[in-house]
Amino acid sequence: MKALVLGGSGATGKLVVQQLVKRNIQVRVVVRESAIIDSKISHDKSIEIIKGNINDFEIAKIKDLVQDCDSVICCFGHNISLKGLFGPPRKLVSNTVGNIIEAIQTLNLNTKFILMSTTAYTNKKIGEVNTFGEKIVFAVLKVLLPPHKDNMLAADHLVYKLDSNSNINWVAVRPDSLIDEDNVSEYEIHNKKIRSPISNPGKTSRINVSHFMVELVTNDKLWQEWKHKTPVIFNKE
Ligand SMILES: NC(=O)c1ccc[n+]([C@@H]2O[C@H](COP(=O)([O-])OP(=O)(O)OC[C@H]3O[C@@H](n4cnc5c(N)ncnc54)[C@H](OP(=O)(O)O)[C@@H]3O)[C@@H](O)[C@H]2O)c1
Repeated sequence: MKALVLGGSGATGKLVVQQLVKRNIQVRVVVRESAIIDSKISHDKSIEIIKGNINDFEIAKIKDLVQDCDSVICCFGHNISLKGLFGPPRKLVSNTVGNIIEAIQTLNLNTKFILMSTTAYTNKKIGEVNTFGEKIVFAVLKVLLPPHKDNMLAADHLVYKLDSNSNINWVAVRPDSLIDEDNVSEYEIHNKKIRSPISNPGKTSRINVSHFMVELVTNDKLWQEWKHKTPVIFNKE
């Protein structure tokens, strides 16, 4: 089994790589030239490191990256810096999602695609509705914060551009406020948001997000349960 991890140098992506390796899954990561890679990762024979920015890759190269992978996990996020939040590429996540899906579709692969999304995404297709206050906050964020718009477009691509009969297998995992913890703890998965990410946010540890995403890769029963859905994940309180 082989998995392609995008954003593997990030806080959650690193944990995804570690958990895949622990389960004897071959991993291919794409990291920027500037990314700092732990020596444990760079010396691990089960991890293939491709250097470069996937945003600059031609579709042919993206097809090469994807074609022998059983799953693709995207943990991209804009860096929390002026350049990361307001500079290019403003469509880092949504363009990547579009390109990966195009590669999977044109190669006619059965690859699982897992997107790390956010509870800021409201899945109206399953009846989620924003309160008046949330509508205002999200509208302001969409205008003022390019990464928010990018994350919304990325999830919309899966929810609206691919219907449930599509041959593309995807799950968009929605964590709430991310925190760091050393170990996997009990967590809960919901089909819909059960609390407001604005007025009553919950906590989700990155290690639990990575655990759930890797479970989706390895556990076909779980995959069938969540395929074409946008599960919300919280730490158990
Ligand atoms: N913060 C929260 O509470 C929260 C809640 C729910 C969901 N989320 C979402 O969760 C996702 C991941 O979170 P995280 O904390 O694990 O993120 P992170 O540590 O910031 O990792 C982001 C990854 O994206 C890569 N990246 C950033 N800008 C890039 C660019 N221009 N070109 C190529 N790669 C780029 C980074 O590469 P480098 O290492 O090279 O910088 C890194 O690998 C984000 O999309 C975020 O929106 C966040």
